[in-house]
This record gives sequence, C-alpha cells and structure tokens, in this order.
Amino acid sequence: MNEILLRITQLSAEITNALNNAQTEHELEQVRLKYLTRSAELAQLLAGLKDLDSEQKRVVGPQLNQIRDQVFRLYDECKKQLQDKIYQAAQKRKELFDVTAYNPGVLHGSLHPYTIVNQKLEDVFLSMGYTIVDGQELEDEWHNFDVLNIPADHPARDLQDTLWLELPQKLMRTHTSNMQVRVMQKQKPPLAMLCSGRAFRYEATDATHDYVFWQTEGLLVNTDISMAHLLATIKVFLQAVFEREDLAISVRPTYFPFVEPGIEVHMSCVFCKNGCKVCKYTGYIEIVGAGMVHPNVLTACGVDPKSYSGFAFGFGLTRLVMLKYGINDIRLLTGGNLEFLTQF
Ligand code: DAH
Repeated sequence: MNEILLRITQLSAEITNALNNAQTEHELEQVRLKYLTRSAELAQLLAGLKDLDSEQKRVVGPQLNQIRDQVFRLYDECKKQLQDKIYQAAQKRKELFDVTAYNPGVLHGSLHPYTIVNQKLEDVFLSMGYTIVDGQELEDEWHNFDVLNIPADHPARDLQDTLWLELPQKLMRTHTSNMQVRVMQKQKPPLAMLCSGRAFRYEATDATHDYVFWQTEGLLVNTDISMAHLLATIKVFLQAVFEREDLAISVRPTYFPFVEPGIEVHMSCVFCKNGCKVCKYTGYIEIVGAGMVHPNVLTACGVDPKSYSGFAFGFGLTRLVMLKYGINDIRLLTGGNLEFLTQF
C-alpha cells in the first residue's frame, strides 16, 4: 500500500510540475495527452481502486480522488491563463500598431500591355461587326490540325512543336486557328470572329521565344469575299494598333495548309525610316500570316465552298505588343515585375 501512496504523491508532483511549466497551448496539450487521458497512469490507478481490499480503498481512494480533482482544476486554470496571455498579447499588438509607420505610396493598378493592345484590337474589330470569341486552350488533334488541312503525316506539323498531353489525341493548342473551326462548326455564314488567347509550343525559352505566348486569329466568311477585303482589314487594324495612318503593308505569297492562296503581310517598320536592326535594314517587318480559307477547311467545317468564301489571318499578339512598346525580352511580359508593368 505504501508503494501506491508513494507513487500517487510522485505522480501528483510530476503532473503539477508539468502543468506549471507549459508555456504554450501546444505544450499544455502535450501534458494533457501524457497525464490526463483515460489511458494515462492516473486514470489507470483510479480504475485499479476496485481491485483493492476495503482497508486499502479507504486510505488510497480519497487521496487519489483529491489529486485527480486538483490536477484537473490546475489544468483548467493553466489553460485559461494561457488563453488570457494570448489575448493580452494580441491586444498589445493592436495598441502598438502604428497606421502611419509604413507608407509605400499609393500603388495604382495598371492594365497589362496584352490587355491594352487586345482591347484596342477588339474595339477595331467590333466596329467592323466582328464577334469576339474566347477559345479553349486544351484542344484535340482534330481541331488543331486535321480539319485545318494538316493531316498526321503532313510536314507542316513539324513547324509547330506540339505539347501533347497524356490523354489520347489531346494537346495544348499550338495556335488560335482552332477557333476558326469551332466557330464555323457552330455558326452559319455570314460570320466574322476575332479570338485572342494563349498558344503553346514545345520550345526553349529565350528573349524572343516562350512556350506560352499570345496569338490572335481572325476569320470572316461570306459570299464574294476576296483578298482585297483581307488586305484592307489587316491594314486598318495595324494602323489603329500602332496609331499610324502612314503605316504601309507589303504582301508576299507563302504557304499555310489552311489557306489558299496564303500570304505573309509585312508592315513598314515602326522604328525607323531608312532601315534598322529590328527590320533587318529592309524597312519592313513580317507581322501577319493570312490567306483565303482553303476549300477543304470550309468543307470540313460544313460550309459550302461553292457558295461562300472567306479569309483568315493570325498573328502573334505577343510580338505585336513587343513591337508596339519596344519590349526586347518576351519574359518581361509574364515576369510579374511591377517596375516594368506599372509603366503602362
Ligand atoms: N496559325 C498560324 C501560326 O500559328 C498563323 C496563321 C497563318 C493563321 C495564316 C491564319 C492564317 O489564320 O491564315 O503560325
């Protein structure tokens, strides 16, 4: 019996000490878990009372119960004290908070250069009766390539290194031309749409390349549409974006699988009059790919090429923005550097 009594006294001292030493709520919780749960020694001793003979029960019982009451009371007190301490510290912090201490100046938000140029573009095309569409970035092979007259074995597929997904025939669109298809599938001509958005290519990043970049795609389908409509449209929007009425365009034939004929539109250099590094001393900068929508594409999208014709164009919005603002590193556009962004 003496052994039990000795242990009870030791345990009481141990628990009291541990409770008094707990400095944080976490530490207090550790003490509770160690000593005050049902499986802890104290509870075990109380549970063992029933096995003692009546003489032992008479002596040990009251001591044990008293100690239990004491340590649980102390636990409640410690808990309250700690909570009070935390509350007081928070109050103190509030009192000490000096609203005038740090003044970073007024930081105004500003529009991202992509937003500024895209809004300008959308204004121009809305004024010409175009619909602005938003397109999906996760695309299937069919909408990104096949319908656009680029079958699997076509060398043109190699021109656009593709980020394939681990899903059958799914990819990140390599260009915004997928939206030509999706719009034609949904709407009957006459139709005119403009779509800006991100495109993805599997390539290394440097000052002029990024694996994510912005493109803009335009499409117009109606009866009797000709190359003249296309050229006028491109000239109008380039003049508006660069705010230069004297901006001239020059046109060269080229090949894109989804248009026939296909053209490359160059614009007069916005940086010089007589040749500079940017225009490689030619006075012109290549800016837009375009052409008359290929009859195969019209047919695949359910538009009869005998009744309708159309033009399509596409360009790097990223490149347009870089040219407009003289930005020489593509990474600045996505870097989130406020010093750069707040200039616009
Ligand atoms: N999709 C082409 C590219 O990513 C750009 C393009 C060229 C779009 C000619 C067109 C077009 O609609 O007619 O390089």
